[in-house]
Amino acid sequence: MKPSKKLDQLSTSIFSQLLVKKNQKLQLGQNIIDLSIGSPDLPPPDIVKKSLSEHVLEDGAYAYPLTGTEEFKQAVTYFYSQRYHVDLQTSNVLQIIGSQEGLSHLALAYLDQEDVVIVPDPGYPIYEASVQIAGAQIYPVPLIEDNDFLPDLSSIPEDVAMKAKMMILNFPGNPIPTLATREFFEQVIEFGLKYKILIVHDFAYSELIFDQQKPLSILSIPKARETAIEFNSLSKSFNMAGCRIAYVVGDEKLIEPLAILKSHMDYGVFLPIQKAAALVLKSDFHFLDEHKRIYQQRRDTFIHILHDKGWNVRKPEGGMFVWAKLREDVRSMDFAFKAIDYGVLVTPGVSFGAYGEGYIRLALVHPEDVLEQAAERLVQCVGFFSRDSSSHVMNVVE
Ligand SMILES: Cc1ncc(COP(=O)(O)O)c(C=O)c1O
Repeated sequence: MKPSKKLDQLSTSIFSQLLVKKNQKLQLGQNIIDLSIGSPDLPPPDIVKKSLSEHVLEDGAYAYPLTGTEEFKQAVTYFYSQRYHVDLQTSNVLQIIGSQEGLSHLALAYLDQEDVVIVPDPGYPIYEASVQIAGAQIYPVPLIEDNDFLPDLSSIPEDVAMKAKMMILNFPGNPIPTLATREFFEQVIEFGLKYKILIVHDFAYSELIFDQQKPLSILSIPKARETAIEFNSLSKSFNMAGCRIAYVVGDEKLIEPLAILKSHMDYGVFLPIQKAAALVLKSDFHFLDEHKRIYQQRRDTFIHILHDKGWNVRKPEGGMFVWAKLREDVRSMDFAFKAIDYGVLVTPGVSFGAYGEGYIRLALVHPEDVLEQAAERLVQCVGFFSRDSSSHVMNVVE
């Protein structure tokens, strides 16, 4: 039996190649610190665990939920007003089974073959994969350091902008942990309105923003609701990744196509999870401050070691990752393979798009002492790639 041709387009995971090597090393008894996947290592708030354990005992909890409950949608409107100063009605909220599910089905709900989607390069893989599965076309817009890793809208040719139906953005981003500025979002909204493009902002890391900076919802920009929708999730903010619960917010008409498609495809999120999510979205948010403090501290400890040894990687402004630049002639895949010999699993930047070449992504998903060890090992790996391996790392990495 031949599977669909669409599957051929999907890149086979670079991870599987790295995992083979990782498993070989593990079998030999080597210790490997895994910085390759952004799966939260910290637990969810206690109220989530307590609520879940209570509600799973109720007989009525096991019916098909079909859609998001009114209670959940109200909780999202409360959360958005408190955290991002955006006023929403419950009709502006659509529950999804994780952003990953929502993003992939959004493409199916909106795109036809001739449609073009502007995606960030490097970008979170589902952006490109969802467009490929929907059979539409991708226009990658580079995120480069010279432009502060923001997409340069003026670089998009007029004919591409005219044909584009959707543009996907992600701040703080994965793999590049930068923040959008208000000015940039204003330009994006202008661009979306001018060319009639659905702007899709993935705000999965909205609660991991460091150094007293504030989260910026794209819906807080004037006129945004005419052209933009925003995805948000409980996976990273509340460490509920395995619960599979997220939502998309925006104008009712813009989210409706996804709601229609989903009504044919799934029966919603388990009710006890919806209850726990509603509860935590309306909590006192003390958890979020503490959570952010932990990640910021991890970032500082990890970066301090790299900087101290001369590897001047950029300090992330938010999110869960460090986007570390390699020496110009080192390929990210080569570095990732070699790093396993030094006891660290990292993600090669090229797996996020051609413009990710020359970088690796490091997920801060371990306690500080483990991250310290990982940083020391990575610095040694950098040393391996120096022309004169006895020289100080400072000389080999920009
Ligand atoms: C940028 C980004 N968007 C979406 C997701 C998926 O989130 P969810 O768990 O809500 O599906 C991730 C997960 O790593 C992510 O990094």
